[in-house]
Amino acid sequence: MADPAGTEQAAFEPSAIEWQQATCYLNGEWTALTEAKVSVLDRGFIFGDGIYEVIAVDTVDDLRAPFRARQHFARLQRSLDMVRIDNPFSVEHWLNLIAEAIERHPWTRQLVYVQVTRGVAKRDHPFPAGAVPTVFVNTSPWPAIPVAQIEQGVSAVTHADERWLHCDIKSTSLLGNVLMKQYAIDNGASETVMLRDGFLTEGSSTNVSVVKSGVISMPPQTVQILPGITVDGIAHIAQQHGVEVDMRPIAAAELRAADEIWLSSSGREMLAIVSLDGVGVGSGKPGPMYRSMHAWFQQAKALDAQQWAAERAGHLSITRTTQCAA
Ligand code: PDD
Repeated sequence: MADPAGTEQAAFEPSAIEWQQATCYLNGEWTALTEAKVSVLDRGFIFGDGIYEVIAVDTVDDLRAPFRARQHFARLQRSLDMVRIDNPFSVEHWLNLIAEAIERHPWTRQLVYVQVTRGVAKRDHPFPAGAVPTVFVNTSPWPAIPVAQIEQGVSAVTHADERWLHCDIKSTSLLGNVLMKQYAIDNGASETVMLRDGFLTEGSSTNVSVVKSGVISMPPQTVQILPGITVDGIAHIAQQHGVEVDMRPIAAAELRAADEIWLSSSGREMLAIVSLDGVGVGSGKPGPMYRSMHAWFQQAKALDAQQWAAERAGHLSITRTTQCAA
């Protein structure tokens, strides 16, 4: 069963030249991405003992801006707190850092990656005393989401959710997710939608929402799913447009009987799942609610970009004032 609009793999293949142009931030220094090195004893490498974020950057009305950047750093703080890694930076410092990462690269669309690990120490399970968190930030070109995926939707397969019970932490320990993504690829699909005890959790790297009779339903934010920045944006945007959004457990039978199913993430924005386990969802095409939401989502991105630009302009004038005063 082939995915009607292909898998996301092809869309995420930056050319070698683009990688060679890339610089990254590692522990206080900007360096060529191909030259950056961390210790083999880094606990991120040894234990997957780290936290990450992925932030989409798009250019809307000539404004290049990260989408919902503050929300990403609020979630980073939450994840770090949950695993007791000290956040090395304030939100403002993080925002400056990603602004610099974006500015250093010419691409109009970027995916910024942020990772903080517990640091370097002799391999031993307990938290090491005095380890300094490793901080890594890089950005890569973010190819346009294929029009075919937006207009025709994508396919998904289901699988039991076999991951741990802290999926709300954005941990770099992603083996369970990696295996589920590969399961989708191996089955010619774009995403694996996971079910735990007969209820929808999320996709391998996406949140999943359903639409029935004009109401959007999303699984509640529990330890079973990542509190997605994109799906949260979708909920807010829908409510602003008077669409009912319901956060509640969604049984497998409801998933299969949905009028529309959507996946969402920073990298894929929102896409309609039009085939689940080889069976058509609703009309078998992206539904009317998807098309409205997708348009509203683009408008929300434009507003968010304006806000980012205004904040950065304020920041620059503050910096200039400070420099003048000094
Ligand atoms: N993944 N659920 C899981 C398991 C995810 O990995 C992601 C995102 C999401 C959506 O979250 P957000 O809307 O905040 O991007 C939900 C990122 C993009 C990744 O790992 O590359």
